[in-house]
Amino acid sequence: MHGNGGLVEGHPYGAVSVPIFQTATFAHPGIGRSTGYDYSRESNPTRHELESVMSTLEEADDSIACTSGMAAIGLCLELFEEGSHILCTEDLYGGTVRMFESIGEKRGVTFSYVDTSDIELVRKSIRKETKALYIETPSNPTMKVTDFAAMREIADEYGLLIIADNTFLTPYFQKPLTLGADLVVHSGTKFLGGHNDVLAGFVCIKGKGLSEKLRYTYKTVGCCLPPFDSFLVLRGIKTLSVRLERQQENAKKIALWLKDRPEVKAVYYTGLPEHPGYEINQKQASGCGSMISFKVDSEKRARKLLESVKLISYAESLGGVESLITYPMLQTHGDVPVETRERLGITEDFLRMSVGIENAEDLIADLEQALAE
Ligand SMILES: Cc1ncc(COP(=O)(O)O)c(C=O)c1O
Repeated sequence: MHGNGGLVEGHPYGAVSVPIFQTATFAHPGIGRSTGYDYSRESNPTRHELESVMSTLEEADDSIACTSGMAAIGLCLELFEEGSHILCTEDLYGGTVRMFESIGEKRGVTFSYVDTSDIELVRKSIRKETKALYIETPSNPTMKVTDFAAMREIADEYGLLIIADNTFLTPYFQKPLTLGADLVVHSGTKFLGGHNDVLAGFVCIKGKGLSEKLRYTYKTVGCCLPPFDSFLVLRGIKTLSVRLERQQENAKKIALWLKDRPEVKAVYYTGLPEHPGYEINQKQASGCGSMISFKVDSEKRARKLLESVKLISYAESLGGVESLITYPMLQTHGDVPVETRERLGITEDFLRMSVGIENAEDLIADLEQALAE
């Protein structure tokens, strides 16, 4: 699984775990000479190893490790000139919408949000100033699936970049750069880190031109992942496949169980064959992950469930080994305009669960007691 930037093999003492190069600067062997590293804002050996691993996993030409997912998304935003328009999946992570609507709009970039699972709607929504499609699939939190091949066709027709947020599935289940995307962003805080103990973000890049532009901005703004955090994410990635398989297995059991509960009105999980995006997800991804959204029969029950879970934590975030349950209306999507939220069905009865690696029967028992009156 390791990209192996030559670091582990080349390290003295045969260390099998990548050392943490906790240094801000590197001494030069002589004038005009470098060890390959000069200053950690630009590059650092521990971070370099992590970036190589990410490039291997995402089949990218380059990957940049940032301080958070938002920092990675912010870096991509810097690619666009004033007057550009970006067409986005309508139910993006709320923090992304906040960044686009505040920082993006202030810089003169405009955004519109459509259901990108509707190919004709995407085509109709392109403007003459549109420069990119920004996609989350499955989307957050309503789990709509966007067809990458169809998006690539449209992007080629209109000369657009495709940026895909691959946080929910990770390269273990889906590799957007092989499906037509130009850039992949990640909140590495989630499945990649995997233990709810580190913030991180990535931009994985196809092509030298984009890599040069983004690296220039990266070293200029300094949103670089510190060495210790790089080590933690590297350690997390070592168990990515094992964790994701277990989390997905648990999620499938929970989705099937929720579907049969009288208190549950709807279940949104791409692993259920009746999910509208099931076929497309099967075509472009090797799994459906472990994110489930569901609607209960009243706001009262939703609130009670959040306050009654014991094994599952009522907390923002996702992807770690611990199961978390979120109230998107108040938390992850609190900054999304109310009309948009209501149109998408992100209402007071809507919950999102990130399924962890615990025993599935224990998780179901916890949900059962929390759903009860
Ligand atoms: C899909 C998605 N993208 C990006 C982010 C932002 O990542 P971070 O919290 O690491 O800044 C999140 C955070 O929840 C997310 O869920």
